[in-house]
Amino acid sequence: MSAVIINGNEIREGILADLREEVAALKAKHGVVPGLVTIMLGEHPASVSYVSLKIKTAKGLGFNEIQVSLPENISETDLLETIEKYNRDDRVHGILVQLPLPKHISEQKVINAIRPEKDVDGFHPVNVGKTLIGDTTGFRPCTPAGILEMIIRSGINTSGAEVVVVGRSNIVGKPIAAMMMQKGPGGDATVTVVHTRTKDLSYHCRRADILIVAAGVPGLVKSSWIKPGACVIDVGVNRVGEKKDDKTGRIIPLLRGDVDFEEAREIAGWITPVPGGVGPMTIAMLMSNTVRSLKRSLLLI
Ligand code: GUN
Repeated sequence: MSAVIINGNEIREGILADLREEVAALKAKHGVVPGLVTIMLGEHPASVSYVSLKIKTAKGLGFNEIQVSLPENISETDLLETIEKYNRDDRVHGILVQLPLPKHISEQKVINAIRPEKDVDGFHPVNVGKTLIGDTTGFRPCTPAGILEMIIRSGINTSGAEVVVVGRSNIVGKPIAAMMMQKGPGGDATVTVVHTRTKDLSYHCRRADILIVAAGVPGLVKSSWIKPGACVIDVGVNRVGEKKDDKTGRIIPLLRGDVDFEEAREIAGWITPVPGGVGPMTIAMLMSNTVRSLKRSLLLI
């Protein structure tokens, strides 16, 4: 039997529609809109396309969106000063510095410089700590928050489930593991994290009721690694070439996930496609975090 395809675009549209209403209501009642600053260094093609989509989505929701494009060779000190300017600006509720950064700049120093109350990416150590201890006053990172939203909205039971996470990054692997082992809805799972040094990857994957793959290796997970009926979440967005867009005729990147989708969909119970799965959810959760930040600043939550 073929798996249920978890449609990230559809779930995202539902979340954005709710946020649009919420933003309009906040504006009407309190006279403020969420302010989101997006800082990008240089013109890395993947970063440009992520950032453009973030900006377009924020504007569509009625945010005050401030785009800051800085030269790739900007000094660390100048970047930190730019961040501090927006830390102090009351109209700004979220600050996002697009990663990766050039080698001469310390990513951790930059993340640490963002006020935790404005760190809508959920990367600051304060928010990482809050995510780990299940303190809901912090911001959870957007990709794991999106993954959990997809799992919950698809009606998949996480309580007592064997969850296997492939990849141990700070952005996806570690936080999703922490979130799914918490007590409560979307949690209570038995979580295993596997990575490049794991002795037998396929053995662990085959045990998973919920398999979350964030390895950055196209087609890594084969159908023989999947337990029949499992939920497979593919976080991989690997550029493997280019293709012509059917609608616009433009040349666009050809994306492939970390899971062999065509084979895996015949074995899994649920599966996310690439593109159109986890990717669209990340931006929706960023918008949601920014609206939450505004509400916190108004002492509404
Ligand atoms: N680069 C790739 N994904 C992300 C993200 O979620 N946030 C930021 N700031 N940079 C990224």
